[in-house]
Amino acid sequence: KIPVIRTLGQLRRWRKEARDKGLEVGVVPTMGALHEGHLNLVRTSLARHPLTVMTLFVNPMQFAPHEDLSAYPRTFERDMSLLQTLLPSTTQPRSLRGLGVSEFDSFRTPPSPRSASDPRPRSLNGNSQDSSPAMNGGGVVDSPLVVFAPTPDVMYPLKGELQDLGKHRGLSVELRGWGEVMEGASRPQFFKGVATVCTKLFNAVEPDHAYFGQKDIQQALLLKILVQDLLLSHPTPDNLHILPTTRSSTGLALSSRNAYLSPPELHVSPVLYRALSAAKDLYASSASEGITGEDLIAAGTRVILDEQEQILSPSTSMEQGRGVELQLDYIEVFDKYTFEPIRGPVGEGREFVVAGAVWVGKTRLIDNLLVGWE
Ligand code: PAJ
Repeated sequence: KIPVIRTLGQLRRWRKEARDKGLEVGVVPTMGALHEGHLNLVRTSLARHPLTVMTLFVNPMQFAPHEDLSAYPRTFERDMSLLQTLLPSTTQPRSLRGLGVSEFDSFRTPPSPRSASDPRPRSLNGNSQDSSPAMNGGGVVDSPLVVFAPTPDVMYPLKGELQDLGKHRGLSVELRGWGEVMEGASRPQFFKGVATVCTKLFNAVEPDHAYFGQKDIQQALLLKILVQDLLLSHPTPDNLHILPTTRSSTGLALSSRNAYLSPPELHVSPVLYRALSAAKDLYASSASEGITGEDLIAAGTRVILDEQEQILSPSTSMEQGRGVELQLDYIEVFDKYTFEPIRGPVGEGREFVVAGAVWVGKTRLIDNLLVGWE
């Protein structure tokens, strides 16, 4: 069984033991509702490092008040069974055998000294991180994979109850400029929430390596900038890895939010990938001569407009998406390093990203393709 770590105290003891034993740790931060995209990140970390922590935390700070925090899918039991399939059902690798088992007791948290009548507010109780039950049984460093699934008061000890997060007491990490374009323009608080929670997760786990998906390319590149600019060593910028986007056979990028899509909406959704591909293909086919950022955006936008027309056509059946509401949020081409939107001639040998977001009904989908640096 995969151990579940709930408190900072447990995590720190686990981390110390890993360090004492000289075992490298990879981290895969997630918000759960796992799919093959997440699992591929975990698989890679498991293949490369003796120990992997998958964090599972639906981070309130990165959701705006009108966004889907309460509706965000929470499928803990299912997530745990999916993770279980990644582990060999047989014995541990030789290198890990015997580790931690004798230490199991050291992970059993002592009974909380705090009684029910303790007047101290929960979020300010210094001991609260050790007051929840220990792992779900089993040893700890003897498992190549552990899940760190903290409660909000572990991640936001100064912020009190969840509802107060909007009032925003305490510290946050903000990336001016880079965090204000594209996804940041559409969702003003989003990257502040992501940067803050990831800084906390990096401090808590102290990973040697961290894994993120290209699916959220702006997030992954921002986090690389973050670890560089804050002089973090766990992970170093070079050890923050961006892995390719996992897609369904239709081209649709896998996402926890795809669960919201109706069958006709699912039918329409691959249009975003087709739009981005059209832009990328145009750049490739023109041998990039004289082609402008505006040309690439227009090529992508055309694909979305064509689909909108198709949706309205009487010859389109319900299953094919008739009546589905498809709205373009943006198609953008931006420089890999500066995040500057590319306007005018793109030039040859440029490393850039074609990214886009569309609304399909009430669901917002994002995707991107890399050009020149895959
Ligand atoms: P979440 O959306 O759960 O995604 C967790 C990780 O999985 C991210 O690095 C994301 O880019 C990656 N991922 C999602 N779909 C993918 C796909 N189809 N292919 C490859 N990778 C994919 O992103 C977040 O959570 C949060 O913002 C988080 C970083 C955990 C901070 O709260």
